[in-house]
Amino acid sequence: MASKETETMRRVRVRAGGRGGYEIVVGAGALGLLGESARAALDPRARRVVVVSDARVCALYGERARASLKAAGYEVSRWLAPAGERAKSLRNVGRALDFFRERGVERTDAVVALGGGVVGDLAGFAAAVHLRGVSFLQVPTTLLAQVDASVGGKTGVNTRAGKNLVGAFHQPAGVVADTETLRTLPPRELTAGFCEMIKHGAVGDRRLFARTRDFLARRAGDDSPRLVDDELAELIALHCAFKAKIVAADERETAEREGALSRRVLNFGHTVGHALEAVTNYRRFRHGEAVGYGMIVAGEVARALGLLAASELESLRGAVALAGRLPRADDLEAEEILRAAAGDKKSAGGELRWVLLERIGRARTVGGREIPARALREAIRAGLRSAVG
Ligand SMILES: NC(=O)c1ccc[n+]([C@@H]2O[C@H](COP(=O)([O-])OP(=O)(O)OC[C@H]3O[C@@H](n4cnc5c(N)ncnc54)[C@H](O)[C@@H]3O)[C@@H](O)[C@H]2O)c1
Ligand SMILES: [Zn+2]
Repeated sequence: MASKETETMRRVRVRAGGRGGYEIVVGAGALGLLGESARAALDPRARRVVVVSDARVCALYGERARASLKAAGYEVSRWLAPAGERAKSLRNVGRALDFFRERGVERTDAVVALGGGVVGDLAGFAAAVHLRGVSFLQVPTTLLAQVDASVGGKTGVNTRAGKNLVGAFHQPAGVVADTETLRTLPPRELTAGFCEMIKHGAVGDRRLFARTRDFLARRAGDDSPRLVDDELAELIALHCAFKAKIVAADERETAEREGALSRRVLNFGHTVGHALEAVTNYRRFRHGEAVGYGMIVAGEVARALGLLAASELESLRGAVALAGRLPRADDLEAEEILRAAAGDKKSAGGELRWVLLERIGRARTVGGREIPARALREAIRAGLRSAVG
């Protein structure tokens, strides 16, 4: 009894988290299949489901999620986190855990994260520690969360020590990505997601890079862009498959791994990206936008070291420009950004590791000591001056 909806769904398997892994369902209207997906993925004894969301997403999609879960026989309640990065706090984890306890969420019950990466990280972490771990489903509603944050099992919150430094690896039992939800997403959130998609192609898949860039070019050239169409759904599924492959090869980001399938290559653009977020107090850039600049700076560094051809750097720059307009960054001090980058957690044994490119589709990690300070400063200045702003 395959409905029209189910026929157009793409399914991607993530081989991580035990029991043969889990499935990502991608497509327009996937939210209507949430209950069905929950039945397939959760413990048959599961009775109670807590939907964790924020007010905005809940107002838009909460009812659809609830209806689908109810129809599948679950007792549904919901807990709303405040919107925004600051919601990823231990205090909110505590509040969510209190709510789970009040609602009698048992070992076999589950949590559903309905929202962007903030909700996914927070709800996933609360699920990881409630009774030492209950199942959770990711229902990502931002582009960034659909292609990146919802896949791979990293959950966590921010503390005084920094972003994402407290957390757990807790793979979801399933991911349901409804591409229709992207229709209500603010344009900057789309730009941020597109930047992370460019990153995927840049570090590990030249064809995926070209396909993403061509999609963005067509979208930019279209007078009445149908922002969300079947082609975007297909592309999102390809990006999920890419991330799934990396996660399966390196589920817990083993520090020694440096190969092409290391999870660490996904940090491309993030050393400077995180620094840009930090020096602007997380107010100016969406995370993905900062990564857009971070990739260009890393590209400039790679070119300065003679690793990357100028034409490849131009190709990267062109793709980022197609992702959308980024907030300006040319007023920021290179020195300050370097200081913030040095405090980034991607440093290992005191040395910052830079993910650079040899070419589009192939990443290479380089120790900070191998990069002359002057080249670094110049690369930052050049990257932040990029015509993307
Ligand atoms: N766990 C991981 O592997 C991983 C990977 C990448 C990023 N992240 C984390 O993800 C977070 C960023 O996530 P994000 O970019 O999705 O931002 P977000 O979760 O902050 O969401 C952005 C805003 O969009 C709103 N929103 C969400 N869906 C909407 C929709 N369909 N329509 C209208 N508005 C909508 C939200 O209310 C929010 O205000 C960061 O905290 C980052 O650390 C985690
Ligand atoms: Zn990122």
